[in-house]
Amino acid sequence: MAMAMGLFTLLPPLVAVLMIPTVSAGDEAALLTFKAQVVIDGSSGTLASWNSSTSFCSWEGVTCSRRRPTQVSTLNLQGGGIKGALPPVIGNLTYLQTLNLSANELYGEIPASLGHLRRLETLDLSNNLFSGEFPANLSSCISMTIMVLDGNKLGGHIPAELGAMTSLEAISLSNNSFAGPIPVSLANLSHLQYLSLSSNQLDGSIPPGLGSIQSMWQLHLYNNNLSGLLPLSLYNLSSLISFQVGGNMLHGSIPTDIGNRFPSMQILSLSSNQFTGIIPSSVSNLSHLTTLNLAQNRLSGHVPATLGRVRALQKFLLTENKLEANDKEGWEFINSLSNCSQLRWLILSDNSFGGHLAGSVVNLSVTLQKLYLDDNRISGSIPADIGNLVGLNILLTVNNSMSGVIPDSIGKLENLVDLGLYGNALSGLIPPSIGNLTKLTRFLAFYNNLEGPIPESLGKLKNLFILDLSTNYYLNGSIPKAILKLPSLSWYLDLSYNSLSGPLPSEVGTMTNLNELILSGNKLSGQIPSSIGNCIVLVKLLLDNNSFEGSIPQSLSNLKGLSVLNLIMNNLSVSVILLVWMLWKKRKQRHKSTVESPIAEQYERISYLALSRGTNEFSEDNLLGSGRYGAVYKCILDNQDKTVAVKVFNLCQSGSSKSFEAECEAMRRIRHRRLIKIITCCSSTDPQGQEFKALVFEFMPNGSLDLWLHKKSQLTSSRTLSLSQRLDIAVDIVTAVELAVDIASQ
Ligand SMILES: *[C@@H]1O[C@H](CO)[C@@H](O)[C@H](O)[C@H]1NC(C)=O
Ligand SMILES: *[C@@H]1O[C@H](CO)[C@@H](O)[C@H](O)[C@H]1NC(C)=O
Ligand SMILES: *[C@@H]1O[C@H](CO)[C@@H](O)[C@H](O)[C@H]1NC(C)=O
Ligand SMILES: *[C@@H]1O[C@H](CO)[C@@H](O)[C@H](O)[C@H]1NC(C)=O
Ligand SMILES: *[C@@H]1O[C@H](CO)[C@@H](O)[C@H](O)[C@H]1NC(C)=O
Ligand SMILES: *[C@@H]1O[C@H](CO)[C@@H](O)[C@H](O)[C@H]1NC(C)=O
Ligand SMILES: *[C@@H]1O[C@H](CO)[C@@H](O)[C@H](O)[C@H]1NC(C)=O
Ligand SMILES: *[C@@H]1O[C@H](CO)[C@@H](O)[C@H](O)[C@H]1NC(C)=O
Ligand SMILES: *[C@@H]1O[C@H](CO)[C@@H](O)[C@H](O)[C@H]1NC(C)=O
Ligand SMILES: *[C@@H]1O[C@H](CO)[C@@H](O)[C@H](O)[C@H]1NC(C)=O
Ligand SMILES: *[C@@H]1O[C@H](CO)[C@@H](O)[C@H](O)[C@H]1NC(C)=O
Ligand SMILES: *[C@@H]1O[C@H](CO)[C@@H](O)[C@H](O)[C@H]1NC(C)=O
Repeated sequence: MAMAMGLFTLLPPLVAVLMIPTVSAGDEAALLTFKAQVVIDGSSGTLASWNSSTSFCSWEGVTCSRRRPTQVSTLNLQGGGIKGALPPVIGNLTYLQTLNLSANELYGEIPASLGHLRRLETLDLSNNLFSGEFPANLSSCISMTIMVLDGNKLGGHIPAELGAMTSLEAISLSNNSFAGPIPVSLANLSHLQYLSLSSNQLDGSIPPGLGSIQSMWQLHLYNNNLSGLLPLSLYNLSSLISFQVGGNMLHGSIPTDIGNRFPSMQILSLSSNQFTGIIPSSVSNLSHLTTLNLAQNRLSGHVPATLGRVRALQKFLLTENKLEANDKEGWEFINSLSNCSQLRWLILSDNSFGGHLAGSVVNLSVTLQKLYLDDNRISGSIPADIGNLVGLNILLTVNNSMSGVIPDSIGKLENLVDLGLYGNALSGLIPPSIGNLTKLTRFLAFYNNLEGPIPESLGKLKNLFILDLSTNYYLNGSIPKAILKLPSLSWYLDLSYNSLSGPLPSEVGTMTNLNELILSGNKLSGQIPSSIGNCIVLVKLLLDNNSFEGSIPQSLSNLKGLSVLNLIMNNLSVSVILLVWMLWKKRKQRHKSTVESPIAEQYERISYLALSRGTNEFSEDNLLGSGRYGAVYKCILDNQDKTVAVKVFNLCQSGSSKSFEAECEAMRRIRHRRLIKIITCCSSTDPQGQEFKALVFEFMPNGSLDLWLHKKSQLTSSRTLSLSQRLDIAVDIVTAVELAVDIASQ
């Protein structure tokens, strides 16, 4: 009523009389119908103001046209807690220019009635639950400039009609389930500045015509299944500031003159495709580049030595390529990157970088947060001044051939959260300064040649939740009590296969958050403290291969979650009560393992024939090495240009068949640590009818596997373990659990 009065005073009576019963009532009625047909999240309060106490033009989210004050021009209910199907009556708001219903819980199809909104310029229905196909009627909205439908469950093909909406300047259909090809008609959208079709299931090739849309600013096609050559025409889009086509199956090489094609480029991502060739040195001319992501391709050669000219560079990712550096020249890019004063990520994981790590790495910007050097062939030592990089959060040198000591200066990296040094040949003492890294949550330095005592100062790492110093062999002294008192230590503590001696301090009982305690293969002695019964969340306890004596504490039976226990190869005696408990545990475990067979579910099985063919019938030529339980072969799988490594179990060896599932389990543990990745298992019979079991895992030429195997032959007298030996250790850990229980039950 107040609204009607207002109109009478503003407008000449004749107009008012004509308008009130027809048009203006129409928009108000449409809004009220809308309100009545959706469900409002009670707490949001949206639409509470939609009542007759004020003019609908002042209702929350509603704006009326300035030229036509009684018609709605904008409806913006973003994040309004609105649920239900979108009422078709929305199509009655004939003068609507902006409709923004993003971040609600609207579901069902987008109503075809939106096609009536001929004046609609902006449509934002993103982050709802809309399903069904793209409404073809939308193409009637010929005024539309911005269409944002991302984050829904829309499917089907993107209709060719979209190409007729020639006013469009921005289209986002990302994060939906659109399938089929990108319509070639999109090339007709000559005003398009932003096109995002990322994270759908689009396939086919990219229409070359898109390269003619000179206004294009941002082109995002990542995470689809697009294939074929990346059309060269796209390199004609000279206005691009963001070009992201990662996560497809595109191939081709990067044009040598790329650096002169995109004068404004800021984000360039070609990651997870099949690009080959080198990184052209002209990328150094892309002077506005902040992100260069070339990870997971097949790029080779050197990283351009002039890259540091890209002063704006912040993120540089090269994971999983075949890039090389074997000498000073190859590493020159690191030198040059010291000019990038905003560099934050330098990710070189999983390539063929070799030779000595460039000492100039310590001259990189203090803004550097992530430095990943893992899974390469890098030798030499960690530079003494690594402590210069005070911005580092994550430092990974994992799985290389780095030697020398862990520099003392590492203690200056006080922002470090994750420190991964495992799988190298680092020697010397663990510097006590590491205790200064109070933000550290994970410290993994296993598979090295570290020696001497575990510094007491590690007890200052109040945020540590994993500590793994296992398999260094010469770490000695006792277990520092301070470590056992770290309340954050919750995932696991692994100090196995070292030379630690003395008792297990009774402070072990303060580790009430710890899931796994692994101290196998040391020289620990004395009684197992009964306080261990206080570690109530313990799931895995491995104390085997030590010199513990006396009786197994009965308090172990407090550990209700304990499912893996290994105490063998000690001088322990078993109490009766405990035996009963162990038997009960064992039955429970057996029951559990019949329910979930993790391997079978997780990995696709592979036939004996395929493995036999791929290894040239398990020929000597393909033999990579052998361990106690079997032999490892290099295998090229049919129809796949894929080389894998196959470990074939020697089933005559007693315990070998039994260890198959155990090894699958052990491999999963190793996989977790990124040493080797298991691909699948094979369990079948060979042509002679013999049982045949094999594990298929990732073959990394020049990577960890190959490296370890070669190390074995090169350094026969060294303490470095071969892969096979490692596998055997892993198997032992798991099978020994069974044994322990078997022994106890006899
Ligand atoms: C919406 O428009 C349709 C016809 O276009 C009409 O039949 C219907 O009554 C209108 N609904 C409201 C609530 O205005
Ligand atoms: C009607 O809307 C006004 C704001 O325009 C609000 O203050 C009032 O609480 C609303 N009335 C009801 C019953 O929700
Ligand atoms: C959708 O478009 C078709 C074809 O133009 C038309 O026949 C139909 O009436 C439209 N539907 C609505 C709800 O506007
Ligand atoms: C929709 O509204 C939200 C909040 O006002 C805004 O951030 C967003 O940019 C709008 N969408 C469009 C396409 O303008
Ligand atoms: C897509 O969805 C993911 C996961 O919900 C989200 O992180 C991402 O920001 C979304 N991307 C876009 C472009 O909406
Ligand atoms: C694109 O535009 C051309 C003319 O510019 C026209 O011939 C063609 O039909 C249009 N294609 C589509 C799919 O709209
Ligand atoms: C991707 O496309 C290829 C053909 O180019 C097809 O073989 C494959 O199944 C598709 N993958 C998915 C996940 O759709
Ligand atoms: C790129 O643009 C130039 C000049 O407009 C044109 O001559 C050339 O054919 C285009 N290249 C491709 C691959 O479309
Ligand atoms: C970089 O651009 C300049 C000027 O356009 C050109 O002379 C130079 O050759 C380019 N550098 C590379 C490596 O392509
Ligand atoms: C860093 O930039 C300066 C100034 O352009 C240049 O003289 C120097 O050679 C560059 N340093 C490296 C390591 O590229
Ligand atoms: C680091 O930079 C300084 C100053 O430019 C230089 O003197 C030093 O040699 C560089 N260090 C290394 C290891 O390259
Ligand atoms: C770092 O640790 C060392 C050895 O534990 C200690 O001497 C030094 O004072 C510490 N530095 C800082 C800044 O805390």
